[in-house]
Amino acid sequence: MTVDKDNWLSPTWWRQAVVYQIYPRSFADANGDGIGDLQGIISRVDYLKDLGIDAVWLSPFYPSALADGGYDVDDYRDVDPHIGSIDDFDQLVSALHQRGIKLLVDIVPNHSSNRHAWFQEALASPPQSPARDRYIFRRGTGPNHDQAPSDWKAAFGGSAWEPVGDGWFYFHIFAPEQPDWNWANPEVRQDFLTTLRFWSDHGVDGFRVDVAMALAKGFDAEQPEILPSQAEMEAVPIGPDHLLYDRDEVDEIYAGWRRVFDEYQPPRVAVAELWAEPSPRKARYATEESLGQAFFFDIVHAGFNPFKVRQTIDEVLGWSRDSGSSATWVLSNHDIVRHASRFGLPDVDSDSVWAGPDRDRHWLMTGGKEPVEDRCRGLRRARALTMFLMGLPGSLYLYQGEELGLPEVTDLPDAARQDPIFFRDRGFNVGRDGCRVPLPWTATGSSFGFGSGAAHLPQPTWFGQYAVAVESDQDDSTLNLYRQALSLRGRWQGAESLEWIETGDPQLLHFRRPGGWQVAMNFADQARPLPLAGQSISLSSWPGIETAVVEGKDDLAVGHWIPAETTYWWRDSQVS
Ligand code: NOJ
Repeated sequence: MTVDKDNWLSPTWWRQAVVYQIYPRSFADANGDGIGDLQGIISRVDYLKDLGIDAVWLSPFYPSALADGGYDVDDYRDVDPHIGSIDDFDQLVSALHQRGIKLLVDIVPNHSSNRHAWFQEALASPPQSPARDRYIFRRGTGPNHDQAPSDWKAAFGGSAWEPVGDGWFYFHIFAPEQPDWNWANPEVRQDFLTTLRFWSDHGVDGFRVDVAMALAKGFDAEQPEILPSQAEMEAVPIGPDHLLYDRDEVDEIYAGWRRVFDEYQPPRVAVAELWAEPSPRKARYATEESLGQAFFFDIVHAGFNPFKVRQTIDEVLGWSRDSGSSATWVLSNHDIVRHASRFGLPDVDSDSVWAGPDRDRHWLMTGGKEPVEDRCRGLRRARALTMFLMGLPGSLYLYQGEELGLPEVTDLPDAARQDPIFFRDRGFNVGRDGCRVPLPWTATGSSFGFGSGAAHLPQPTWFGQYAVAVESDQDDSTLNLYRQALSLRGRWQGAESLEWIETGDPQLLHFRRPGGWQVAMNFADQARPLPLAGQSISLSSWPGIETAVVEGKDDLAVGHWIPAETTYWWRDSQVS
């Protein structure tokens, strides 16, 4: 196995990289306890190599009580014993690196878990002590100080303030088990720098930064001023004046991280998780003085709508240019409904990606009832849009299982659910367990090859048909489409630019990349003529490339049809 050393040491290796997200507890279980682990990932590194990815992003693997799928971290510099050990981690780094695959790890800087040693110390210490200052504590209101300091709501439902029994409350954006750090505290800042160096010294190539824009808060919890109400707070746009999100002070935090990243060769990279309205401010997280790259989730909100897709692509490429970074394209992750299912819903143009009846996602709440999802169509559309995005300049983030075309599991029994959203937001949002069900590796067998015992989230009986072993043997499978596309994409050379070709058809998007590659996507539910001057199609997102002659139109006489909801890739014939 040889690794291209020049590219390996390049400080810009990530710009066009294909990054594969592993949610470790649901990828592969080597020790048979039902929970995916690091040895499980190690046993599948050749699968990752064959898929053709450049990097893995590993979701949290730290010790955790799993109050929020591992995003409640007990100890930032250790591995959860259910998942492995530091030694296993080192083995994983080396197994990936030997195959030329980089590793990004999740870092969760907005909050720790309530089991973190510093939070336990804070609880054991008196109000206004240095130990409490590492978190955000505030005195309760009312004559007995037993009322929450404000009516602020947590993102997962319920109050954002949790009482600790002595008249004081602590603040948490997410679950009560996830107390927010106080980033105004120098010890907190220093400790995260230590963590960044710790994992960098263990060989990680970069970080995915959880809730990257929430670290700096715009209120001093210990000052007695009256806090605004939730409604007043929400009325302020996210940005410098908002009390929680996207304040200017985050820039200084990430400038400090950048100095650490630049201590390494090649510099460590980071990608900011930013769920926010479209805003040019997002670009600053992606500059080389800051984290280097940012998730622009706008594309997941563009639905299956050609107008919104094109507009979003232009916007995102613009922000990326402004920041000097490259774009990030993503359609699925561990927080949203899998896109093969989203695109199988009747309201396919909708921008909703969350599960729950609040966004017309009633089918996800219906338990045993028949879902209205059209699986075949959802998969067809998912393959088309993924192949379209894969042709764009920028890096691509894939979520484990999307390469199998896995749909969302919508009928998990309530008793099996784990996501705090389900418990805290009941009746409103079923939560994210449906996209976190362990992967099927074989058609049959215990947990479909995930492990030797039952999986920690039950897999439906139909999972076997999506198994890696099954799809590997099918030429037309989604897995083989991803493999073929990633291998072709890896051979594209040229500048990070794109030229739109106007088709005159609002349902047909078409662009050309330097180097002669062209990509066209038909969003319509009927075939459309696509003029091709004799070129042959290199890749079609759906099996069966039609080459019918378009009757009665001389200029298209040697043209092709592009089938409904399909993407084609081809290369200019004059380019060798
Ligand atoms: C974003 C993560 O992706 C999500 O899974 C988690 O629940 C929240 N941040 C809180 O850490």
